Amino acid sequence: MSWKSRVRPFIPKPIMQRYIAWRVASNQKTVRQRLFDQYGRYAEYTLTQRSLPELFPEGRQASIEVPVASIVRDDTMEMPLAELLSLAGVTQISQPKTIFEFGTYMGATTRMMAQHSSPETKIYTLDLDIKTRNEYLRRNGYQFELSFTPGQHFHNTPEASKISQLWLGLEPFDFSPYYGQMDLVLVDADHSYPFVKADTEVALKLVRPGGVVVWDDYTWVDAHPECVGVTRCVNELADRLPIYRIQQTRLAIYRVPA
Ligand SMILES: C[S@@+](CC[C@H](N)C(=O)[O-])C[C@H]1O[C@@H](n2cnc3c(N)ncnc32)[C@H](O)[C@@H]1O
Repeated sequence: MSWKSRVRPFIPKPIMQRYIAWRVASNQKTVRQRLFDQYGRYAEYTLTQRSLPELFPEGRQASIEVPVASIVRDDTMEMPLAELLSLAGVTQISQPKTIFEFGTYMGATTRMMAQHSSPETKIYTLDLDIKTRNEYLRRNGYQFELSFTPGQHFHNTPEASKISQLWLGLEPFDFSPYYGQMDLVLVDADHSYPFVKADTEVALKLVRPGGVVVWDDYTWVDAHPECVGVTRCVNELADRLPIYRIQQTRLAIYRVPA
């Protein structure tokens, strides 16, 4: 156990919270500078926008349900409302039997996909193993720590039995058992370029013909400059694949030919 872990229980919560906020802010400054040096200050949002009915004409009449608890969304790590509703719409219309999500976080998106798919649908959602995640972050050059419970929004819900949580530890994750099996893949984990690129390459192997890949954070705000990685990666892919931005959202989407 590190000295920090031993000391932490004795530090009053408000002081600990201010310390964490300070660490995150200073880390963001460093990360932002590094990203701007590497990739330039601005990314161009070059994808053509399409509404969901244009992307899925067969789902023009579809409707979705939103838990009242999901209406207010003040956690910037989670999808905002328009994106969450659009993801629910894509799920409701495409009725995937298998879903793979990169980046569970607290499970809001996982639960939304679970609520809008059939009872038989199997959902796999990957996040950093809580036992090793802070060591993982340290090894990857991040100076903050994580303390949330991955998937807590769907734990003890009726949809929980459809969802399998997968864990990335300190060794590479073996995706090969899932190749060619997924009807819907959501890419929403580490948004910096090398990670999005790696996750996207895997996503394209996971998805089956006729399936759908969705990326969150194709567009983004200054507070999250790391998301330039998503924009760059998706723009590069869009040179050879028909990828669209879902209208008035930050989501990008690719429907794989059947
Ligand atoms: C933006 S959050 C996901 C938000 C979630 N989809 C939602 O909107 O409710 C990103 C998540 O990816 C996780 N993460 C970071 N690096 C990862 C990696 N290499 N593989 C999988 N998950 C990762 C983080 O721990 C975090 O929970």
